[in-house]
Amino acid sequence: MDLIHTLYTRRSIRKYKMTPVPKEVITKLLEAATLAPSASNSQPWSFVVLQDTQLLKTYSDRAKELCLASIKDKPDPHNYRKILADPDFNIFYNAGTLIIIYGHEGATTFEDCSLAAQNLMLAAHAEGLGTCWIGFSIALLDNQDFKKELGIPQDSTAVAPIIVGYPELVPSSYTRNPPRILLWK
Ligand SMILES: Cc1cc2nc3c(=O)[nH]c(=O)nc-3n(C[C@H](O)[C@H](O)[C@H](O)COP(=O)(O)O)c2cc1C
Repeated sequence: MDLIHTLYTRRSIRKYKMTPVPKEVITKLLEAATLAPSASNSQPWSFVVLQDTQLLKTYSDRAKELCLASIKDKPDPHNYRKILADPDFNIFYNAGTLIIIYGHEGATTFEDCSLAAQNLMLAAHAEGLGTCWIGFSIALLDNQDFKKELGIPQDSTAVAPIIVGYPELVPSSYTRNPPRILLWK
């Protein structure tokens, strides 16, 4: 797929087919992620791949609890409290695969890992797969007890949790504001 077409047609996918994503396809996506630029070529990323829908459902429940606790008493302009309190809402949208990009300590960890995440999402789209970054899951994935449970180093930071799967439903259109140009001399 032509790169510009890939950019214009990628959407966040929130409804997936049950078809599992094969290991070799996941491996290809991880490799695409590592092609991202990083400061001083530091490549401060590691990957966790979870492919168990039932397990992801339990992680969704735990993440929702942590999220609700963290936004308690805070302004809620997007009505997240109501969404997260719904027992039927799975933050991972029943996707069969979650790839988490964990960052190692460094001055530009978030920038570097986010670039890797964008590579991964675009490569997935080019392969006919859908993705969605799940910010709601960070509260759990970066929780020290959770990392201990999964054997993830305590000094790793969860940056980009991305669900992956074959799209069942692709949103028809998207809206973007035109570029806000502050200065062009
Ligand atoms: C940092 C970040 C966190 C996000 N967290 C969530 C999330 O928790 N749940 C969700 O459904 N979408 C999440 N998204 C997806 C955005 O809602 C989506 O990218 C945005 O609405 C634009 O739509 P598009 O990706 O289809 O162009 C997140 C995206 C980013 C970049």
